[in-house]
Amino acid sequence: MAKKYDIAVIGGDGTGPEVVAEGIKALSAVGVAFNISFNFVKFDLGGERYLKTGEVLPETVLKELRKFKAIYLGAVGHPDVKPGILEKGLLLGLRFDLEQYINLRPVKLYPGVATPLKDKGPSDIDFVVVRENNEGLYLGAGGFFKKGTAQEVAIQESINTRFGVERCLRFAFDLCRKRNRKKMLTLCGKTNVLTFAFDLWERAFHEIGKKDYPDIKRDYAHVDATCMWMVKNPEYFDVIVTDNMFGDIITDLGAMIQGGMGIAAGGNINPQGTSMFEPIGGSAPKYTGTGKINPLAAIGAAQMMLDFLGEAAAAERLEKAIIRACGKMKSMSAGKMGYTTTQVGDLVAGFVGEK
Ligand code: IPM
Ligand code: MN
Repeated sequence: MAKKYDIAVIGGDGTGPEVVAEGIKALSAVGVAFNISFNFVKFDLGGERYLKTGEVLPETVLKELRKFKAIYLGAVGHPDVKPGILEKGLLLGLRFDLEQYINLRPVKLYPGVATPLKDKGPSDIDFVVVRENNEGLYLGAGGFFKKGTAQEVAIQESINTRFGVERCLRFAFDLCRKRNRKKMLTLCGKTNVLTFAFDLWERAFHEIGKKDYPDIKRDYAHVDATCMWMVKNPEYFDVIVTDNMFGDIITDLGAMIQGGMGIAAGGNINPQGTSMFEPIGGSAPKYTGTGKINPLAAIGAAQMMLDFLGEAAAAERLEKAIIRACGKMKSMSAGKMGYTTTQVGDLVAGFVGEK
């Protein structure tokens, strides 16, 4: 009997729906090859809906979404909507409400993909960033005092709870063990300046590591040094765990060294609830409808979704197909791929069927 998965699909803004369509194409090919049936349920959320109705993430929609194990998301961000409304209301709204406390972002350079790092290849760039996804500076804690005056004060607080930090660290330790590579977990922080937040992170890191993960080597790097090493010696890293803000920043750097936003995928994980998979790049409105955008990041997100659903063999097949498509494409950049968006999707779907 065929296995069945219900997947919520939010195409979202700009090129989001186009790249998601290619991901669905790839998943459907996987479905045929592995006897899996996907039931894709579309949700109309994003800038257009907001402009028409004023709704960003209605409670009724959230209630529906909570029933799914996985959400497949295209992109959020609309040129006619003030920055922050959709990003905070929709993307962060989903991440927080669905308690997707991990943002998992693999940084993996595939053969044939150009990296800006001189003399580095696929064997050098293969690590994973585990970004805390529910706390830190992203909670929106803070406020103004005397706003608009010469004495204005603006405060933005980083909230770090022992519970939130601990579950993130445990996820990272577990992942490091499961990867079974260098078995080294690097805590990326700023203990020399953020002496409250990263004191908690560092204490929890060593306590948990010593007690429950003696097989995993504990390593620490300040965030600035992490950026330096990611460029100079990316082969050093295995798994990096960090807070929400630092994770946001270093994963854009990670995306660049793995070949750009066209190929970088991520997953917002709630191991017990509803997880959400998305390309790391934005809605790229200027490319909407031009057939120039690279769908591989979205297809990579679909691959992560398969893995999360427990379909490891299917995920591996899809990754192999992505790698073969990379080998054919001239570039990962929009408009320079040598193929259109749908043609890249066709390539991947074809390779999925070939084994
Ligand atoms: C990301 C994005 C988001 C973030 C924005 C759009 C709110 O940059 O997914 O990395 O900061 O997390
Ligand atoms: Mn980001």
